[in-house]
Amino acid sequence: MFANRVIIRGFASSASSLAPKVAVVGAAGGIGQPLSLLLKLNPHVGRLALYDLVNTPGVGADLSHINTQAVVKGYKGADQLEVALKDADIIVVPAGVPRKPGMTRDDLFKINAGIVKGIAEAAVKVAPKAHILVISNPVNSTVPIVAEVFKKAKIFDPRRIYGVTTLDVVRASTFVTTIKGGNPTKTPVHVIGGHSGVTIIPLLSQTGINFTKEEVDALTHRIQFGGDEVVEAKGGLGSATLSMAHAGARFTDSLLRALAGAEGIVEPSYVYSEVGAKHGVEYFATNVELGYSIGVSLRVCT
Ligand code: NAD
Ligand code: LMR
Repeated sequence: MFANRVIIRGFASSASSLAPKVAVVGAAGGIGQPLSLLLKLNPHVGRLALYDLVNTPGVGADLSHINTQAVVKGYKGADQLEVALKDADIIVVPAGVPRKPGMTRDDLFKINAGIVKGIAEAAVKVAPKAHILVISNPVNSTVPIVAEVFKKAKIFDPRRIYGVTTLDVVRASTFVTTIKGGNPTKTPVHVIGGHSGVTIIPLLSQTGINFTKEEVDALTHRIQFGGDEVVEAKGGLGSATLSMAHAGARFTDSLLRALAGAEGIVEPSYVYSEVGAKHGVEYFATNVELGYSIGVSLRVCT
């Protein structure tokens, strides 16, 4: 029932009138480093704050030599978290532990829930208007955790909290065109639900491509378990990092362009939805239109 719906996300104001500040939390990690590189190359980023418990001064110094406009600064250790996040427009969160073979994303909950909660609490204090982009798994749970922290502070705004599910649609486009041909960059696949196994629901019928039942079954399974493919191939050394960095950079770029006034930008995201809440599903991944359209909360996509 949510398949054709697009939520219009409004931005009342940017967190600051200065050049947009993006903070990456977990910036020294497997996702954090390539994501920070891609953001340093993004012309819409004015200031790039790189925070981690380790190595960020080095990563920051390295990236700062690239001759693009974003001014980079590395922050290390818990006592620098708040200064790193202060007045950020966007906080991207790939902090936390990744899966090893045999684990589910839920197995990461015990460690990552606390990490994400701590980051959200700092954001409430120093960047209450930031848009928080949650990459840390299990996304189906870490997004509600961030939301609860903002609710407790009485500043919850669902238009500012996003679970990054972009990798699911990136994979879906790749896997579909691998068997059916075509340009993967021009073959969008709407993926809804959540970001974990069978909660990842690709809407292959909406692509306009003809699939056999066997193709639908095989593609659906591959899209749902694409993360496991990478976890197993890495053999205990982590999960998807480079493709996730691409996906996270794409979502951040879309949001930055929307914050700058561009219209009609649609990305998938795992968000709080009033429509979903009415049906007992508060958080749901679907296509979301990013933009200034304050006052319009929902529209049916044709
Ligand atoms: P990683 O271990 O390589 O990097 C994680 C980084 O987080 C490390 O540098 C670590 O020092 C840092 N960190 C840990 N605790 C922190 C804290 N309290 N504050 C700041 N930084 C902290 O892991 P990774 O491969 O980059 O994956 C990170 C997370 O992203 C995992 O939970 C993984 O499951 C998730 N992930 C999500 C998606 C998605 O589609 N949403 C895709 C891939 C990975
Ligand atoms: C992914 O989809 O690649 C991520 O959620 C990481 C994982 O654990 O599979």
